[in-house]
Amino acid sequence: MSDRADKKFYLETFGCQMNVHDSEKVIGTLISEGYRQVPTVEEADLVLYNTCSIRDKAEQKVFHRLADYKKFQKQGKVFGVLGCVAQQEGEKIFERAPHVSMVCGSASYRNLPQMLVQIEAGNRHVTGLDDRQTDECFETEFTSRTNPHRGYITIIEGCDKFCAYCVVPFTRGKERSRTSDSVLAEARQMADLGYTEIQLLGQNVNSYKDPAGKMSFAELLAAVGQVAGIRRVRFTTSHPRDFGKDIVEVIDAVQTLCDHVHLPVQSGSTRVLDAMQRLYTRDQYLERIAWMKSAKREISLTTDIIVGFPGETEAEFEETLSLLDAVEYDGVFSFKYSPRPNTPALNLEDAIPDGEKARRLTVLMERQRDIQKRRNQRHIGQCLEAMVEGKNETRAQWNGRTSQNKVLNFVVPDGITPTIGGYASVEITGSFPNSLLGQMMV
Ligand code: 5AD
Ligand code: SF4
Repeated sequence: MSDRADKKFYLETFGCQMNVHDSEKVIGTLISEGYRQVPTVEEADLVLYNTCSIRDKAEQKVFHRLADYKKFQKQGKVFGVLGCVAQQEGEKIFERAPHVSMVCGSASYRNLPQMLVQIEAGNRHVTGLDDRQTDECFETEFTSRTNPHRGYITIIEGCDKFCAYCVVPFTRGKERSRTSDSVLAEARQMADLGYTEIQLLGQNVNSYKDPAGKMSFAELLAAVGQVAGIRRVRFTTSHPRDFGKDIVEVIDAVQTLCDHVHLPVQSGSTRVLDAMQRLYTRDQYLERIAWMKSAKREISLTTDIIVGFPGETEAEFEETLSLLDAVEYDGVFSFKYSPRPNTPALNLEDAIPDGEKARRLTVLMERQRDIQKRRNQRHIGQCLEAMVEGKNETRAQWNGRTSQNKVLNFVVPDGITPTIGGYASVEITGSFPNSLLGQMMV
């Protein structure tokens, strides 16, 4: 691969939005180093997987992919594993998949150009694994934006929370924030490029600390919302412990901030929350929900829940169900607890059998489906603004998202073609548990 003029890479991404955005930066970096992205493994010289290890199932996916494509090593293709599985498994990956030549965790992406030089020189064991204590963020002018409408901006990397089940502090390293000046400069640059929607990213955006000491997270939100040309600002993920009332106040004050907050609760039982080392009680969580419910704008709420954490009793699981009723979320991402390497929860007793975890997950999803079905009905008759994302030709419907991040499918009067990436006013005519239906108003 060394001295080819046309170096081609293929990159597949697994996992969360942080990973999706990391990949945008990795792609930009590779392009600036003279590589070209290709859509298939077959066409590539360098095959990269940006991996997720949040649950065992996610982790296994990359090993399946590596096994599937091992046959291509004979053709001289070079394989690299990036992201959370790379950081977690480290050099063990070279043993498990000997055709892999590069293993690099997200805290080491700054060193990618040097690592590529080593790969091109024929080095078959290149690693970037020792940077989790770094104070630096991966900032690059070369980000290649793959989502044409939503511009991601990292504001904080890593996590210092060490929840008992979570691998992220081990895979993404310690918390480090970018300066507000740098975040705002990127937001302005994105507005100049024509983006109208920005999503601020971090494992825990609420513990954002401006290294220059100029702005709190809420002030940064307001400032991004005031960048000329920006119409929608989202942020994810929040941690209830660090979630301040000032965020609700700023959502009320700045119209461009979307009326949606994703606030992972994980469990409705204070005993389980304590065992998870979440640093808040059920009541403290509900207090934050009460702040949002008393906001002037209606704020849509979504959450993450883990069922079957070690020792979770039936009564404690039912507390989670009753929390669903109390909050009335518009969306819930629910997961069966998956034991993860290095995490404190590995030492807990009373594992819940998989069948029981599956049962609890089904019960929870059914309960939540009913809530969403009921809640989405309230939109019927309202006029909502959708950012237009595309068209489903077979159904002759356009689709987009509301400010509350709900999927909205809509029909358009004859002779009108909405602009993709633009905004449409839509009257809501129907609702489902996971989407809304409407008619564009002109
Ligand atoms: N098992 C199951 N779910 C997990 N999550 C994080 N770690 C685990 C785990 N070990 C879930 C949490 C988190 C979301 C991103 O993934 O709900 O908020
Ligand atoms: Fe994202 Fe966490 Fe998965 Fe890493 S482990 S990709 S941080 S969800």
